[in-house]
Amino acid sequence: MRVLIVGNGGREHALAWKLLQSPQVQQIICVPGNGGTAALERCRNLPLNVDDFEGIARFAFVNNVGLIVVGPEVPLAMGITDYLQAKELNVFGPTREGAQIESSKAWAKALMEDAEIPTAKAAVFADEAAAKAYVRSEGVPIVIKADGLAAGKGVTVAETVESADSAIAACFQGQFGSAGSQVVIEECLSGQEVSILAVTDGLTIRPLLPAQDHKRIGEGDTGENTGGMGAYAPAPVVTPQLMEQIQNHVLEPAIAALRSRNIDYRGVLYAGLMVTPAGEPKVIEFNCRFGDPETQAILPLLDTPLEKLLLACATQTLESFPAIEWKAGASACVVVAAEGYPGNYPKKLEITGIDQAETDEVVVFHAGTQLRNQKLITDGGRVLGVTAIGETFDQAIERAYAAVQSIHFESMYYRRDIGHRVRTVGSSSN
Ligand SMILES: Nc1ncnc2c1ncn2[C@@H]1O[C@H](COP(=O)(O)OP(=O)(O)O)[C@@H](O)[C@H]1O
Ligand SMILES: [Mg+2]
Repeated sequence: MRVLIVGNGGREHALAWKLLQSPQVQQIICVPGNGGTAALERCRNLPLNVDDFEGIARFAFVNNVGLIVVGPEVPLAMGITDYLQAKELNVFGPTREGAQIESSKAWAKALMEDAEIPTAKAAVFADEAAAKAYVRSEGVPIVIKADGLAAGKGVTVAETVESADSAIAACFQGQFGSAGSQVVIEECLSGQEVSILAVTDGLTIRPLLPAQDHKRIGEGDTGENTGGMGAYAPAPVVTPQLMEQIQNHVLEPAIAALRSRNIDYRGVLYAGLMVTPAGEPKVIEFNCRFGDPETQAILPLLDTPLEKLLLACATQTLESFPAIEWKAGASACVVVAAEGYPGNYPKKLEITGIDQAETDEVVVFHAGTQLRNQKLITDGGRVLGVTAIGETFDQAIERAYAAVQSIHFESMYYRRDIGHRVRTVGSSSN
């Protein structure tokens, strides 16, 4: 089978790497891919834009592509799946309507309320004065969210009325484009965040291993929000009983509510949850695709052939698919970024040492890299996801940090405390 992957991040490199472990996967095409996917055997990059649906469909048709896996949310929200399914291609990723679960926080909130999915109390506003009045009636802390896709920058956890007001004003002044024309204001939850990535064919839904990521740029989970500076799996805070509760009270009701809206959702339903101090899962948000970097931590532990699992979702045969199998042990991914990220950062810096970093237990996923004239150069803020497996978290994390030591580019930055919640020995000494 030939598989086409849409996207160019660490998540897409991890998907390609895992798919290629199946001998049945004859070739992967990444649109547009990155320096990591360019170097994989049996994988090639195709330089099309992710919104060139026609070009992607034509290529898939002519080259007999058996499965298309869509990585990022933007093409999903634009309707790539609708377009490709109309050409009778097998697509893993929801339709435009299904992608609203991520592309409109107000829509997702309404779905959660209908389905009685536990989540923060919230109200939606299209008017600035009413939004500000609501903040005064509820008090702080309170959470202000631009409704639409805002590349991870649309949410403010406001500790003061003034910061809530300025977040509301930023939304209505168009700082997030049309994403901010509606604002969701919600109760501030406390607890531990976890990511549950579940695969579904629209009828059956099955969770992958629970993961946790580190969203902040600085050690001790401080500083600005980022796309994610590291991740690990399986998150021990998600006990089997909690996973069952998530299955019954979050995942199943979400799929049922999508079905009742006539949405045939085939892809990943990612539930970002807060596990409250009482141990209850509450949904912070849903995403309509694989998480990045959680996917980099989860896939190295997967034993089930990935192409079979994704194809079962795309062709709606997940119910009869065997139980998903996992390796024992743990996995950790340390993101290596360019200094300055998530603000301004330099690009086109030469990267060395990846070959020395990789072992049987370590794989370096490329996030923002490019292969140019046989040289690997940086091409983004998050550059690499150095991922290791081990029998324990301590071992996986030690291996990942040891591998980071062999890699070099000018001004590389990474957090030294990835996995601090799950380590039993002191944080990495390097
Ligand atoms: N109700 C809430 N209570 C506490 N923190 C929240 C709440 N909603 C969001 N957050 C924090 O803000 C982050 C971003 O919010 P989220 O809804 O996931 O939006 P996005 O990922 O689209 O930026 C979350 O990961 C969480 O840390
Ligand atoms: Mg989020």
